[in-house]
Amino acid sequence: MSKRDEDIIVCRCEDVTLADIRKAIGEGATTMDEIKRITRAGMGPCQGRTCRLLVAAELSRYLGKPLEQVMPSTYRPPVKAVKLGDLADMDADPEEVRED
Ligand code: FES
Repeated sequence: MSKRDEDIIVCRCEDVTLADIRKAIGEGATTMDEIKRITRAGMGPCQGRTCRLLVAAELSRYLGKPLEQVMPSTYRPPVKAVKLGDLADMDADPEEVRED
């Protein structure tokens, strides 16, 4: 790991550097979730919208796998922050929304 890796911010929300990501991978992390748990990359206010691809690219390069194989196939909510007030202001009939 170089000094330069410590200066490269991958996840600006959680202040995670390229060195942090490489250290996690070097310690055995082989999935996006493992890197997320170890470093908190992707757990900030943007929920990884900014850093997810950068982390995946580093993991892909390390594992020698295509990017599509290391990226999670689904996003977990909240994909985008929604204010509770916006939900409360929705003009929807709860009986109409219910599908059980
Ligand atoms: S940049 Fe990583 S969670 Fe926002």
